[in-house]
Amino acid sequence: MQSGNPYRSIENGVPGRIGCRIHYFDELDSTQEAARTFAAGGGPQGLVVIAERQTAGRGRMGRSWHSPAGLNLYCTIILRPRIPLGEVPRLSLVAGIAAAEAIERQAAGLVSLKWPNDVWLKGRKAGGIIAEAVTNSRQELECVLLGIGININLAIEDIPAELRTKATSLRIAVGHPCDRIEIANSLFTLLDYRYMEVVTHGFDAMRPQWERFSALTGKRVTVVDGPRRESGIVRGIDSDGALVLEVGDGPRRILAGDVSIEGAYE
Ligand code: BTN
Repeated sequence: MQSGNPYRSIENGVPGRIGCRIHYFDELDSTQEAARTFAAGGGPQGLVVIAERQTAGRGRMGRSWHSPAGLNLYCTIILRPRIPLGEVPRLSLVAGIAAAEAIERQAAGLVSLKWPNDVWLKGRKAGGIIAEAVTNSRQELECVLLGIGININLAIEDIPAELRTKATSLRIAVGHPCDRIEIANSLFTLLDYRYMEVVTHGFDAMRPQWERFSALTGKRVTVVDGPRRESGIVRGIDSDGALVLEVGDGPRRILAGDVSIEGAYE
């Protein structure tokens, strides 16, 4: 059910630009599914779905996303880029830059990005990004559902006990509540800018922006992808957005997996 929309004031109405339309719901299973329905009905690029609460919020690799009401930002943005299917994951790195830049306005010096899709504050996870491709019957890209979750006003006692050493929020990091509408506005404006930049100039031009926030570069890490396990020192990301790991016999490109920093509590 859609009631009064507190995000209406930041809807920009500009066709094709992020935030052109913002649909707000008190409760959804997942903003990804509502955005999928809008996209199937011809919803334009830039349309945003926001839920106050999600009952089945989801993260990468089939994980769930804790989505209580009244505290955080849960949104999905419809993008319609003309790119090959294989380039979709780069859009989540671009969204990471925009999310880090938006959070940096409230928490300068505290935000970092953990490849591929985690937004960290003081070394704990405060946000996550998921980029789901929707294809047609010829397996061509129809659109991308870019989901972003940011823990904004979650207090420590709102975090499930088993996640307290790993998860955080903007409020916990800076010590006071933050304005969700202002953060959403910054996020959509910065994402619009970064998205235009990537479709015009390509991902390689954006690597320095991503590296500026990288939590992993120079660190010894272990990457686990199903049965595969690889350890080495992170050299950064390459022009495709792959993680470049220095292992014993040279650099190795990592395309997927869960990364943990050796010696850090994960
Ligand atoms: C991750 O870190 O695993 C990605 C988390 C993505 C969560 C967001 S919240 C809004 C959107 N709706 C969902 O169900 N998931 C994404």
